[in-house]
Amino acid sequence: MMKMILFGILVVLAASDFPTTESRNPSGLAKAGIEYSALNCRKYSAVITEFGAVGDGKTSNTKAFREAIEKLGQRSAADGGGAQLVVPPGKWLTGSFNLTSHFTLFIQQGATLLASQDESEWPIVAPLPSYGRGRDTPGPRFGSLISGSNLTDVVITGNNGTIDGQGQYWWKKFKQGEMKETRPYLIELMSSEDIQISDITLINAPTWNIHPVYCKNVIVKGVTVLAPVDSPNTDGINPDSCTNTLIEDCYVVSGDDCIAVKSGWDQYGIKVGMPTQQLSIRRLTCISPDSAGVALGSEMSGGIRDVRIEDVTLINTESAVRIKTAIGRGAYVKDIYAQRITMKTMKYVFWTSGSYNSHPDDHWDPKAIPEVTNINFRDMTAENVTMPGNLAGIEKDPFTGICISNVNITLSPKPKKVQWNCTNVAGVTSRVTPEPCSLLPGKGSSMDCHFPTDKIPIESVVMKKCSV
Ligand SMILES: *[C@@H]1O[C@H](CO)[C@@H](O)[C@H](O)[C@H]1NC(C)=O
Ligand SMILES: *[C@@H]1O[C@H](CO)[C@@H](O)[C@H](O)[C@H]1NC(C)=O
Ligand SMILES: *[C@@H]1O[C@H](CO)[C@@H](O)[C@H](O)[C@H]1NC(C)=O
Ligand SMILES: *[C@@H]1O[C@H](CO)[C@@H](O)[C@H](O)[C@H]1NC(C)=O
Ligand SMILES: *[C@@H]1O[C@H](CO)[C@@H](O)[C@H](O)[C@H]1NC(C)=O
Ligand SMILES: *[C@@H]1O[C@H](CO)[C@@H](O)[C@H](O)[C@H]1NC(C)=O
Repeated sequence: MMKMILFGILVVLAASDFPTTESRNPSGLAKAGIEYSALNCRKYSAVITEFGAVGDGKTSNTKAFREAIEKLGQRSAADGGGAQLVVPPGKWLTGSFNLTSHFTLFIQQGATLLASQDESEWPIVAPLPSYGRGRDTPGPRFGSLISGSNLTDVVITGNNGTIDGQGQYWWKKFKQGEMKETRPYLIELMSSEDIQISDITLINAPTWNIHPVYCKNVIVKGVTVLAPVDSPNTDGINPDSCTNTLIEDCYVVSGDDCIAVKSGWDQYGIKVGMPTQQLSIRRLTCISPDSAGVALGSEMSGGIRDVRIEDVTLINTESAVRIKTAIGRGAYVKDIYAQRITMKTMKYVFWTSGSYNSHPDDHWDPKAIPEVTNINFRDMTAENVTMPGNLAGIEKDPFTGICISNVNITLSPKPKKVQWNCTNVAGVTSRVTPEPCSLLPGKGSSMDCHFPTDKIPIESVVMKKCSV
């Protein structure tokens, strides 16, 4: 009863507030009265069908998306009211399009954005300055399916609508060495602030799924990422040179790191000099047999600091929190905190690599030595583990301040003979089984590694209730 009354009120609001009339809205969205949480609600709303889109999975809607966003952007800019574009149930084939500020893309349940496999639907864009080249190939790259630069206040959400990257085309071409440019990401927002990506499902990305780069104030929440575990480079969420980011309640099954924290590559990243900092990752569930739950690097040349990771579940995943760096990267990975990670069927629990020697070109600086320090892990359990610790730093540049407390690891039926292999690392442990290596000596039975008690600013943002 209450619900019906509520929906009735929403219909009235929708009819008076929004320019879209019911007769022009054949999907009957106003009647649906969907509520959702967002950083901001919008004054104007339209449905993609108003711009000629056809949801048959065959018709290209690239023009409709580009026009819709341009028109809505203009209308919203006139009075600053903001605009919302609704994608109703159907299969909406599209190439790449750019978002605008004060804008919400709402993908309804039953709606799938199908990424075009026609390369002419994708612009070629410049490489990121902090990478100096595309990641797959030197030179430029394909623009992402959903992109945006220099924006503020952008929401990509839904009630679990889907974006299908149709990556099979790109994976095959990549594996055959036929890509001339780097494959497109699904979502990339660049140099933007106040970003929300929530309550959507991303499947079969051509390569990375969600890539905020040079951004501030980013929330990724309630996102499901699914890709075959053997698909190449299908990282889930990659915060890259971003400040103040919250990633929570996400579920990722993929062929690469569930979350990969980055900040640029060698001399290019050093020059741009933008760290990823103030990052909180919580309530992540991850399956990634050949990669990490959370990787830090390997591209970390702007620095990575103040990362908090908690309440994570990892199943059949190669390693938990993996640090990857190399000489030439420069910068630092420091002030990293992880607690309450529950793991089952892991190759490694702890894994650091100081010689992850992939370089953008031959001009990296051999004097650019990364600093890795103050890395804290506490309160973890792992079952069915092949090797508890494989910790390598860099010769004459040890990874220091490693702290591990209250961690119970049980081994798989066929474990590695050496349980902990530590080189060029220094730190302490307490209540860790099996017994760690001698470079991480026990510090009594009551020491707990540090985890910050303050919050990063984005954790205090209060969402508004909006409606479609
Ligand atoms: C999106 O904007 C970028 C510039 O940020 C531009 O290079 C690209 O061509 C635009 N994409 C489309 C589809 O217009
Ligand atoms: C974004 O802003 C930067 C810095 O002001 C500028 O150099 C760049 O051209 C802008 N990019 C776009 C796509 O507008
Ligand atoms: C969203 O859809 C995906 C794919 O169908 C499903 O696995 C997931 O559980 C759904 N999430 C929610 C919150 O309904
Ligand atoms: C334990 O891990 C091995 C791989 O090391 C895997 O094949 C096996 O299925 C796992 N056992 C259980 C009970 O999950
Ligand atoms: C590890 O095992 C000990 C002894 O059984 C127990 O007291 C402790 O709570 C366990 N730690 C975790 C994180 O489960
Ligand atoms: C231990 O790690 C070092 C450095 O990565 C490596 O050279 C060595 O082969 C490893 N030893 C074993 C027994 O795995």
